[in-house]
Amino acid sequence: MSTGLKKGLTAYGDPEFSLFLRKAFIRAMGYSDEALARPIIGITNTGSDYNACHGTAPQVIEAVKRGVLGAGGLPMVFPTISLHESFAHPTSMYLRNLMAMETEEMMRAQPMDAVVAIGGCDKTIPAQLMAIASVDLPAIVVPVGPMLTTTHDSERLGACTDCRRLWAQYRAGTIDAAAIGAVTGRLAPTAGTCMVMGTASTIAAVTETLGLTLPGGAAIPAVHGERYRQAEISGMRAVTLARENHKASRFLTPAAFRNALRVLQCLGGSTNAVVHLAAVARRCGLELDLDAFDALGEDTPVLVNLKPAGEHYMEHLYEAGGIPVLLREIRDLLDLDTLNVSGQTLREIVDGAIEAKGQKAIRKRNEPIYAKGGLRVLRGNLAPDGALIKESAATPRLLTHTGRAVVFESVEDIVNRLDDPALDITADDVIVLRNAGPKGHPGMPEAGYVPIPKKLAQAGVKDMVRISDARMSGTAFGTIVLHVTPEAAVGGPLALVHTGDRIALDVRNRRIDLLVDEATLAARRAKLKPYAVPEETRGYARLLLETIEQADRGCDFAFMAPHRMKGRI
Ligand code: FES
Repeated sequence: MSTGLKKGLTAYGDPEFSLFLRKAFIRAMGYSDEALARPIIGITNTGSDYNACHGTAPQVIEAVKRGVLGAGGLPMVFPTISLHESFAHPTSMYLRNLMAMETEEMMRAQPMDAVVAIGGCDKTIPAQLMAIASVDLPAIVVPVGPMLTTTHDSERLGACTDCRRLWAQYRAGTIDAAAIGAVTGRLAPTAGTCMVMGTASTIAAVTETLGLTLPGGAAIPAVHGERYRQAEISGMRAVTLARENHKASRFLTPAAFRNALRVLQCLGGSTNAVVHLAAVARRCGLELDLDAFDALGEDTPVLVNLKPAGEHYMEHLYEAGGIPVLLREIRDLLDLDTLNVSGQTLREIVDGAIEAKGQKAIRKRNEPIYAKGGLRVLRGNLAPDGALIKESAATPRLLTHTGRAVVFESVEDIVNRLDDPALDITADDVIVLRNAGPKGHPGMPEAGYVPIPKKLAQAGVKDMVRISDARMSGTAFGTIVLHVTPEAAVGGPLALVHTGDRIALDVRNRRIDLLVDEATLAARRAKLKPYAVPEETRGYARLLLETIEQADRGCDFAFMAPHRMKGRI
């Protein structure tokens, strides 16, 4: 097997010439023969002026390079796409698969014996994991780490749970423009990813559980020295993985995915992580069984006391001892023989976990936040292929609720009509948003957190049942049914709902049903137009619309799965 510079030579029809030319050009960068003979460790650069979450990427890269050099490797930094949640139109999820493809192809095209993927903002690590799973190189993921918090008016704030909460207060008229303006300077006080248990924190935690991030790596704040020390060690470990050719598939086993899904339940983590894990698992040839995921939640308590389900922030999870302490708390529910890129088994990691005295971020098994997992999979005539609800972020009295549907045709329809004082809606109604799924609104935007209509918010309504084929930010909260599959745009039952129909949500029995007789539904179904990609669609948008899978399959492009699937998790 070729290694180092000899890997993946450019196809000139003469391998020796290809290597000669490669050496000639790399010498222009000043490398010696001694340096070029070392294992090459690729390091992704996802730093960008558009990405505040990755603001420390240059320092993390320097730390990884130190580690690689110290261990006798040759670090080679290469740029990849960088995605920030607030700077990606129409939504970062629209570009996740592009980042996954681009990262995969750059890892394949350029010679590297291992890769260190530095990511963090919501879609970046999922895209990198998808790429790593497909390329199957030795790989380590280094999260950039979460932001620190600060306060406003003596109140501790966290992005972006408090972004949404305070914006809801502004909409309701309980805080004014000056207050909301002041808050914008306090919500994200340092570089790093959102510091609540949103998508970025959830993905970092499940990546650590999968074994691709060093123990404790998910929670170290972005601006702490320990973040850089761990990045340096990651660089060293990458050289060892390269020398021993320990590929990602050694770590990304069905047992590791089950552990990660278990931890996702235990975190009360982001619903987005289910889509991302489904996509990564499919890249490994494994189908995610949504019902098995739901069943994992039955004996997995929510133990992480972080917003939005709990009270604290990632810095507190770090101070508590991080993910290893959480894993120790549920050790009997995990497969402890799985491996970590540190060279340890999960058993060794949990045995070595150090818990801070008196910490409050990770609950004990006998005093959980919720006795059962935070994420529920619903089925019913409205979601034959499944839907998700984050029970731990919902209003308990609304978990069993029957109400009148008020239908919005699209995200734009929400924008245009939701706050109309003449809108016929009450707090007991069920807001239905459709055509916001993977094909309906390319990228499946995080529009599932439909705001409470202004007139109801001003009357004090804090939560309503909301149902959509969209996603929701991991930092959001409410009684919100998401990822209804199949989506409305491809003829899913959500397309059949009329305003005035009754919808029954029964989370305890995992049901979401449209209370309309089958004959009426059949008549409505017959009038639906089959899905067609709009004629004028070109480029990446066409690729996405023609090939994107539904949410239960991770919204990856259908052709990115391996030729043969191996099983289910
Ligand atoms: Fe980047 Fe929240 S916006 S992690």
